[in-house]
Amino acid sequence: MTRGLSDLTWPRRTERLLLRPPQRADLPAVLAYRSDPEVARWLTAVATEEEEISGRFLVSGTALVVERDREVVGDVMLQVGDGWAQREVADRARRTQAELGWVVAPAHQGQGYAVEAVRELVTIAFALGVRRVEAGSFAENVVSRRVMEKVGLRQEGHFVRESLHRDGTWRDGVTYALLADEWDVVGPTHLISQGCSAEHPRRRPHGQHKVLLHEVAATLQANVRHRLTHEPVHLVTGQRPPDDLVPPVAGQRGRPVRPGHELPTRRASSRSRPGERK
Ligand SMILES: CC(C)(COP(=O)(O)OP(=O)(O)OC[C@H]1O[C@@H](n2cnc3c(N)ncnc32)[C@H](O)[C@@H]1OP(=O)(O)O)[C@@H](O)C(=O)NCCC(=O)NCCS
Repeated sequence: MTRGLSDLTWPRRTERLLLRPPQRADLPAVLAYRSDPEVARWLTAVATEEEEISGRFLVSGTALVVERDREVVGDVMLQVGDGWAQREVADRARRTQAELGWVVAPAHQGQGYAVEAVRELVTIAFALGVRRVEAGSFAENVVSRRVMEKVGLRQEGHFVRESLHRDGTWRDGVTYALLADEWDVVGPTHLISQGCSAEHPRRRPHGQHKVLLHEVAATLQANVRHRLTHEPVHLVTGQRPPDDLVPPVAGQRGRPVRPGHELPTRRASSRSRPGERK
């Protein structure tokens, strides 16, 4: 059963930011950056007055404000919805996905806040129990697309002149998405590629991230070592990372090395072939 944002404990913290449900006192700050033409040009609606945004921010239960050092630096949106399904199984697709959105105030842009907040947003979405997250933007919104790519979302659609901008022009749109089981892979891999500490509780509750990150790192390291030396590797770890995580080119004869699996050396494998000359 998919939960809602109100079922979670707030606030949620990242390395530098705090995410929490909005309060009326936040509205002036939100209105100030959302009414900025450079921000509004990419958004569904131009914010013009507090009352107009209060419905979405205070009533809908889909918005979260992003704070840095007690200052509102932006907001994010998470709206749980139904996946597409054939009629006979439509019940099973109810509340299985979430649409995401984000804004960072111009004064705070360019400091990695969007990426940091959206990573947490994706974590929150999957913690609620959805199986897929999705986000869309105008194709020209390269900064927002960069945010999606850095978080690990995959571009799934490019729609030619299907979105009408308020300036009257039809523009290309793009959609990005990610599945919950892929987040288990993308999340820690991204952390490693960014040199983040395995101690950092950014991804998973209850310290699970430590185990997985440790295993992922060990597996990748072992793959590289095996490829260079052809020596057998044997990883002894408690938990096996998802199969997709292991690079397909890593092992001998195309076999990847996974925790708890041992690959033979070249010599050992040729010896084992019956009838072959030594
Ligand atoms: C999109 C938005 C949220 C990004 O916020 P941000 O906090 O500045 O983003 P980040 O600092 O996390 O940067 C994300 C990436 O975009 C890049 N970027 C940031 N500003 C950029 C700019 N003006 N031009 C090109 N790239 C830029 C960053 O360098 C970073 O990529 P990198 O790490 O590879 O260098 C912000 O620009 C915004 O609110 N825009 C208006 C509203 C909007 O477009 N919302 C999304 C609607 S789909």
